[in-house]
Amino acid sequence: MNDIMQSAIERTSQIIEDRRHIHRNPELSFQEHETCAYISRRLESMNIQHSIIAKTGIIALIGSGERCIALRADIDALPIEEETNLEFASCKKGIMHACGHDAHTAMLLGAASILKEREQSLKGTVKLLFQPGEEKVPGGASIMVAEGALENPKPDIIFGQHVYPDAPCGEVQISIGPTMASADELYWTIHGKGAHAAQPHQGIDPILIASELILHLQSLITKSRNPLLPGVLGITSIHGGSATNIIPEMVEMKGTLRSFDPEWREKVMIMIKEHSEQLCAMHGATCEVTILRGYPAVHNHEGAATFAINTAKGLFGEAGVTNFEPKMWGEDFAYYGQHIPAAFWMLGVRPHDQHSMPGLHNAKFTPDEQALPYGAAMMSKIAIDWLENNE
Ligand code: NI
Repeated sequence: MNDIMQSAIERTSQIIEDRRHIHRNPELSFQEHETCAYISRRLESMNIQHSIIAKTGIIALIGSGERCIALRADIDALPIEEETNLEFASCKKGIMHACGHDAHTAMLLGAASILKEREQSLKGTVKLLFQPGEEKVPGGASIMVAEGALENPKPDIIFGQHVYPDAPCGEVQISIGPTMASADELYWTIHGKGAHAAQPHQGIDPILIASELILHLQSLITKSRNPLLPGVLGITSIHGGSATNIIPEMVEMKGTLRSFDPEWREKVMIMIKEHSEQLCAMHGATCEVTILRGYPAVHNHEGAATFAINTAKGLFGEAGVTNFEPKMWGEDFAYYGQHIPAAFWMLGVRPHDQHSMPGLHNAKFTPDEQALPYGAAMMSKIAIDWLENNE
């Protein structure tokens, strides 16, 4: 067995302890004060130099020298009421680590310990980013970058990982290029004119207009986009009216726009706004469209992703590394990739004796803790290998 893998396995109980502590004490995006303090204490105990960034984030440094590789873990939880019945289930009502960021944090602490032990032989600097607020726009990553996470020292490359319920423990999935989509939030308010439903000529029916608008926007998405480029518009919420015999004043809708193509994303945002306003105006209604710009798409840098594939093959064998089929999910890791080469891989956490398990953001999400040393090994090995290969 690879000696890094061996070191990771030796640390399994500590990684599990960290993960369970963080799991039991989840905190929402940008409120990760206790989590931040816990990470700081753990780094302190390992004698690892670190500092606070973005209020509840931490940057830690191991090694020295000009070449620098960054490793990122997100640390926030979700507003979900946990239903796992685990002995270390969330002690906070309505808050849960349902996206595995507890595992990401624990695995990076495990990697920190492995790297600290080998600090003298590192051929450069490893920068650890414990990042708050992945789950909430504008995304902790954008704040970390704005506050200088990628300066002093400036990393040459960055890697991140995410637990993945669709792959078994011991498997890594990664793609070169498109990995996760940009994700924007859309809000519509259509103002019509209320009336008795028996006298439609005296009102302006926002429900009928909303119906037309939904169909129109789906056509717009289909016809404004190169069919070889993926794109999604989901209208996921519609509210209006209260009785069988009243035309309401107003309808509110919400939705999400997802894409891998920044040019089309910009163009279609403008078109959605203009078409919505014009279609409503045609009926004598008005429409306010608010677009909350979310994260850009994650595109894995070819060199970085290829490096990660080779590291993963070295640890898990050829069969342990498979191609990740891009998803229209969002991930604020994208912000790092706008500045330096970046790659993001998925770490299998499905128990071997199960064919499926509850997915990410599910109240029953329970990653197999056997995967934790694998993720710690991946993080530490890629840092050691990359610094050796880029001395
Ligand atoms: Ni996540």
